[in-house]
Amino acid sequence: SRVRQYKFNVVLRNTTRLCSTKPIVTINGRFPGPTLYAREDDTVLVKVTNHVQYNVSIHWHGIRQIRTGWADGPAYITQCPIPQGQSYVYNFTITGQRGTLLWHAHILWLRATVHGALVILPKRGVPYPFPTPYKEVPVVLAEWWKSDTEAVINEALTSGLAPNVSDAHTINGHPGSVTPNCSSQGGFKLSVESGKTYLLRIINAALNEELFFKIAGHKLTIVEVDATYVKPFTTDTIVIAPGQTTNALITTNQNSGKYLVAASPFMDTPVVAVDNNTATATLHYSGTLSSTPTTLTSPPPQNATQVANSFTDSLRSLNSKTFPAKVPLKIDHSLLFTVGLGINPCPSCIAGNGSRAVASINNVTFVMPTIALLQAHFFNTSGVFTTDFPGNPPNAFNYSGGLPANSSLATTNGTKVYRLAYNSTVQLVLQDTGIIAPENHPVHLHGFNFFAVGKGLGNYNPKTDPKNFNLVDPVERNTISVPSGGWVAIRFLADNPGVWFMHCHLEVHTTWGLKMAFLVDNGKGPNQSLLPPPKDLPTC
Ligand code: C2O
Repeated sequence: SRVRQYKFNVVLRNTTRLCSTKPIVTINGRFPGPTLYAREDDTVLVKVTNHVQYNVSIHWHGIRQIRTGWADGPAYITQCPIPQGQSYVYNFTITGQRGTLLWHAHILWLRATVHGALVILPKRGVPYPFPTPYKEVPVVLAEWWKSDTEAVINEALTSGLAPNVSDAHTINGHPGSVTPNCSSQGGFKLSVESGKTYLLRIINAALNEELFFKIAGHKLTIVEVDATYVKPFTTDTIVIAPGQTTNALITTNQNSGKYLVAASPFMDTPVVAVDNNTATATLHYSGTLSSTPTTLTSPPPQNATQVANSFTDSLRSLNSKTFPAKVPLKIDHSLLFTVGLGINPCPSCIAGNGSRAVASINNVTFVMPTIALLQAHFFNTSGVFTTDFPGNPPNAFNYSGGLPANSSLATTNGTKVYRLAYNSTVQLVLQDTGIIAPENHPVHLHGFNFFAVGKGLGNYNPKTDPKNFNLVDPVERNTISVPSGGWVAIRFLADNPGVWFMHCHLEVHTTWGLKMAFLVDNGKGPNQSLLPPPKDLPTC
């Protein structure tokens, strides 16, 4: 193992997309940002220096950060943000993980442009459990707004209404050639040679949309998601939620030609405005003239739930001798969390007629603290959070339908955490409430991978549903979609002391309060405690 050092300078950069130019916040002037490479067991030091007017923090999405919560990155959860003119060195060791993840800003809506690939190669000399690819290519999917993204969300918070949807999706920074009202832009070109196998490291860094991804004339063999190996399977189309990553092998089994690559939105219930923008790129065989017509493919319709389900239902842990699926079998904490939207009073929200859209978990809309929860926990600062996050919803909702008697759409506000003993096991059922409208929520847990043991539509039934759980080879990941009007059950071992954020990875829902944190106590043994904070940890 070695030490990998990176310098991330947060700078503004004028960037042109969709025929218009705006200054965006970037790392080192790049969109998407630089790819960070490391190997399993390496220590990574990233010196982040902030040169912009916004406070900044960076999250290494999916890195376990065992005992190093100080390097996790969510602003006001594990650190105070880095103010303009200051630096912070994120210092973490990659333990027991290899694969594709992403890094991104974890404050405001800066993630829109501050994100990039995080590639963890296996230890030197250790092969992949699949054929060695000829080349590997990160494919970063994202969204682009013509307006300033901070203005988009601020306007929504002032009005109480939903923010505007993006003007385009992007593949490695470009919307591609079929963009409404701006035909002149070239898309990302994936140059390949015939007769080889390529590994695509596909990342959804979009703020608010799950995406379909497909390539004309080529099948994708899925070998890994969220930096965990899966049993390989072949598909035409992948579905990928914000925060998720998928490694796919493609074999260039054509002699020549150009093939369309398409990334398009998946929304099983369009609560927000319908959005049909498809980002395109080209898979370009070497020697093919640029005048050769491109072989097209049509993306699935936006509401193609069947296509999405057939992909996610095919995911299984590799569960080999080397990579066993260590699913917790005995459960210490059995939790049921509802996730969904609500409406709270807002006297100043004129456009929202005196109310604003909010989101909640178990009816609690999380209120961000003004100092980081992890600091408050480590230094025993009282009055920052309470440990009474409810383990069950307050009402007997008919989750997939309307409201129960004597309840309203309003949520309660609080900065509450759910406390777990070191090495306790958790089963968490995430249930979409569907009260305003059912919606798919990609929920991300910091600090852990979890096993997705069950999934269903309608209301979770604690008596019958567990009988159908997969406790043998369920997929292991860090971000999972709660199906629209349904539920997922996940299990994890609380073996990482600290404070760990959990939230919907649709940024608008995080902003609205669909977030909470787990507090995992220190263990009693050696190497079972949170390490002390680094000297340069920013203060609030
Ligand atoms: Cu990728 Cu808390 O986020």
